Amino acid sequence: MAKQRNFSCTACGNVTPRWAGKCDACGAWNTIVEEAALSSGPRPTQKGRTIPISDLATEDTPPPRASSGIGELDRVLGGGLVPASAILVGGDPGIGKSTLLLQAVASFARNGLKCLYISGEEAAAQVRMRAQRLGLQNAPVGLGAETNLRDILTTLDAERPALAIIDSIQTMWLDNVESAPGSVSQVRAAAHELVTFAKRKGVAVVIVGHVTKEGAIAGPRVLEHMVDTVLYFEGERGHQFRILRAVKNRFGPADEIGVFEMTGDGLSEVLNPSALFLSDRESATPGSAVFAGIEGTRPVLTEVQALVAPSNLGTPRRTVVGIDSGRLSTILAVLEARCGIPFTGLDVFLNVAGGMRVSEPGADLAIAAALLSAREDVAIPPDMVLFGEISLSGALRPVGQTENRLKEAAKLGFSQAVLPSRSKAGLAEGMRLREMADLTAFVGEMFGAG
Ligand code: TYD
Ligand code: MG
Repeated sequence: MAKQRNFSCTACGNVTPRWAGKCDACGAWNTIVEEAALSSGPRPTQKGRTIPISDLATEDTPPPRASSGIGELDRVLGGGLVPASAILVGGDPGIGKSTLLLQAVASFARNGLKCLYISGEEAAAQVRMRAQRLGLQNAPVGLGAETNLRDILTTLDAERPALAIIDSIQTMWLDNVESAPGSVSQVRAAAHELVTFAKRKGVAVVIVGHVTKEGAIAGPRVLEHMVDTVLYFEGERGHQFRILRAVKNRFGPADEIGVFEMTGDGLSEVLNPSALFLSDRESATPGSAVFAGIEGTRPVLTEVQALVAPSNLGTPRRTVVGIDSGRLSTILAVLEARCGIPFTGLDVFLNVAGGMRVSEPGADLAIAAALLSAREDVAIPPDMVLFGEISLSGALRPVGQTENRLKEAAKLGFSQAVLPSRSKAGLAEGMRLREMADLTAFVGEMFGAG
């Protein structure tokens, strides 16, 4: 009988019997790779055993969460580290994952947690040098450099730390999986072993995973459903700001962010991200609008920047950084269809300042304002914030946490806000509220008849 061959997508993990240039499931190109079968033994003929079934009620109190003392990290975790949880920290290579986790593990260790840091990427001496540079050489962290996961698990079982860092999953290999480290089957099998170990032995495990846009290495995407918490560490390489974002959290709110700054001696917390994201703002420039957003449980102000210029291309450019490009297309379509303001023949560039990424629909109004301001060459008043969702009919829809948004804006010295009517804003201290029902009203008021 011909050997059954298996292929899977490195981006979404979809398994297919055939190689293809494009993944049927997620549409990504050049991500299908062959993988070895997980186990080639005979099919088990034994019956399974019955598993114990218990009630939902429990007398056990949940063990307390451990605090790292790094406030930005604790908040993203949902209020500290949950014992026996499995956490995936993903991000581009070189973005600072190892730095962050070395600082975190040192912090946890200094708070009395037994911690191990296992590096598969760097030699122990390299990690020690980094620790020295970060001033962490005296933290009571156990350090290991190994890529054989079987040996690592045996060591963890003997040492029984409260927290173990595995840096990174792409370097780990299991001897019963035939393919190379970094392949989908190795990554998946290794993560499965680690997650199972975490649950069974009560060891919290942090798994580091590199994401590559090309999908050349098995992305941590295939692991997202296995772990309790998925954090992504984001930022522009040229920028010093880094954002730790919870995209999944079984023990806390998703979408929470922690903001850090990469400095010469490691990552430092940014306690007031709004001030930071607005720090480089030139006042009263056409194309700039300040969005009063909510990231997780916290209000964050960001600057949306637009540039609109005549295009010499048949299909004008639509370039976006930090905002979903589909969102831009929708807003451009609504501006054209509902307000009669076309962007045909114009290149549009849209950007969120400071390397931030905005996914909230509440940003629509600020995006529209930035686009209009750039197109009309009329600056938005520098003391104005905007928020509100734009529906396809051009109506402005209220968004949540109006009060928090306004409070944060007032705190940073803004004195007027444009927001959807029916926002239930109440009275905001020192803020002039301009409630508007739809985009047409907004265009009329801000840019004349439009
Ligand atoms: P690193 O943590 O090795 O990234 P990752 O584990 O995600 O691949 O971060 C490497 C980058 O961080 C490197 O470009 C140097 C920079 N860096 C600093 O700027 N300051 C520091 O104190 C440290 C330790 C690193
Ligand atoms: Mg690293």
